[in-house]
Amino acid sequence: MEEITQHDLLIIGGGAAGLRAAIAAAEVNPDLKIGIVSKVYPTRSHTVSAEGGLAAAIKDYDSLDQHAYDTIKGSDFLADQDAVEYFVQHAKEEIMQMEHWGCPWSREKDGTLAVRAFGGMSVKRTIFAADKTGFYMIHTLFERTLKHENIKRYDEWYATKITTDQHGVTGVIAMQMKTGKLHAFSAKAIIVCTGGAGRMYRFTTNGGIKTGDGMYLAYVAGASLKDMEFIQFHPTALARNGVLITEAARGEGGYLINKDGERFLKNYLPEKMELGPRDMISRAIMSEIRAGRGFKSPYGNYIHLDLRHLGDQLIKEKLPLVREIAMEFAGIDPAKEPIPVTPAQHYTMGGIDVNLDMETSVPGLYAAGETNCISINGANRLGSNSLTDCLVFGKVAGEKAAQEISKKTSKTTAQMKTALEDEEKNIARLLEQKGSESVPAIRMTMEETMDQNAGIYRDQKALEDGLNTLLELQQKLQHVQLKDKSKIFNTELINCLELKSMLTLGEATIRCAMARKESRGSHTRSDFPDRDDKNFMIHHVVTKKDNAMSLTNAPVTITRWQPEVRKY
Ligand code: FUM
Repeated sequence: MEEITQHDLLIIGGGAAGLRAAIAAAEVNPDLKIGIVSKVYPTRSHTVSAEGGLAAAIKDYDSLDQHAYDTIKGSDFLADQDAVEYFVQHAKEEIMQMEHWGCPWSREKDGTLAVRAFGGMSVKRTIFAADKTGFYMIHTLFERTLKHENIKRYDEWYATKITTDQHGVTGVIAMQMKTGKLHAFSAKAIIVCTGGAGRMYRFTTNGGIKTGDGMYLAYVAGASLKDMEFIQFHPTALARNGVLITEAARGEGGYLINKDGERFLKNYLPEKMELGPRDMISRAIMSEIRAGRGFKSPYGNYIHLDLRHLGDQLIKEKLPLVREIAMEFAGIDPAKEPIPVTPAQHYTMGGIDVNLDMETSVPGLYAAGETNCISINGANRLGSNSLTDCLVFGKVAGEKAAQEISKKTSKTTAQMKTALEDEEKNIARLLEQKGSESVPAIRMTMEETMDQNAGIYRDQKALEDGLNTLLELQQKLQHVQLKDKSKIFNTELINCLELKSMLTLGEATIRCAMARKESRGSHTRSDFPDRDDKNFMIHHVVTKKDNAMSLTNAPVTITRWQPEVRKY
């Protein structure tokens, strides 16, 4: 490999948003040199574990306005409505595009696309492929990228820096994990598609790779982060280990039951019951557990997800992965026994601040998928909107970046060389430095702090304590000593870099949560239980200024739907 590899467009992250962006860019201009830098092989990206489906108004009984309204109401009126309108308008064409590329969506008996119910959606509009939707999507997208000879992949490469000059992005420095060697890639545009940062938390449905790397890199490169206080907790994760039990299980008719055998949601969401939005159901479960109506276990208290009445055949046909997970990880056949579940961190609603063209404030830097914040999710995302988001906005990012690139001339590589040398020195220093701190110990404390101090319920004291702990951990990280000095797949080194990202993003989460002195969507302040539209109908925006975090506000875009009391 040459010392500096030239690309027109670099995409960091090989999940649904990244692959969709790559295909879109390649279609705009087959001569573009496109590179995808991904820390895992693309079909192992977290998209593969998406289960229940993706939303679009495709049925006659549905409408774009209804999908938009449900999304905005779900967001507790903090979503930017121009983004939501674009999203719902382009959702169906993306579903059909995937169909034409061979994605095996599940069907109704008459051969049309099947849809299922999902929480907070007023009608059935979630398209699916059994309960392995992400698996089928990522393989469809991956195969499609193979058609384009101008897309080159760098699998198992870890991006350590986005380089910039006074005109915007110039490239990426990345480490090939199998050799430990750093390399410089120059680019005229970069799209960040690295997913969320759920691994800041201990109890999460997120795969180990979701460490917010791209959000951190973009923040350091000068982009802002938005709405970081909004963390989604999925109501039904397997109690022992947090593996996702899809909302589709409730969409297909599953019940949530407390230890008294009651469908307790009748006391919280009598009309919607199990099909309420995630923030409300998660709080209802926590209330039951706190009131002593959960089941006790050494690994945390839980409630039951009961699918027995659905029958063996439906479970095997529509929820085969739920069945497999319950059997493999809990030794339970869901047709015969209820599944122990409890809420777990699931989605990062905040992320890199982008406009409707997926551009950040750094020229040439774009972001798409969970890693960005446009925002269509506001304070609470509706389940099944995110896979559609990856497709709709992945495409926009790829197209816009490709169109802009053709107007640009090539960047100088001298600055890339210096950036590469600096990164090599940083990594060598990290490997050689002596210290008293360990990566796993810091990581464990961070995860526990985020669970306890920035979880479903927050208050000023818990947040302040959490912030102080994270700031101490950031100091400790500077005195870490790595035991593994090797170059080949040095996972301790990668974990250390990931930890740095997460400690920064955790700080952003807590700072925004402290500033938002109200309860809205997923952000529940026990000390400020009400929504406060007068003071907090705003986005929080975090930017790096003089090596510190600066917090400002941005207005929420309202087009047609005025905020109202959010009742289901
Ligand atoms: O429960 C689920 O299948 C998750 C879907 C989503 O987060 O959109």
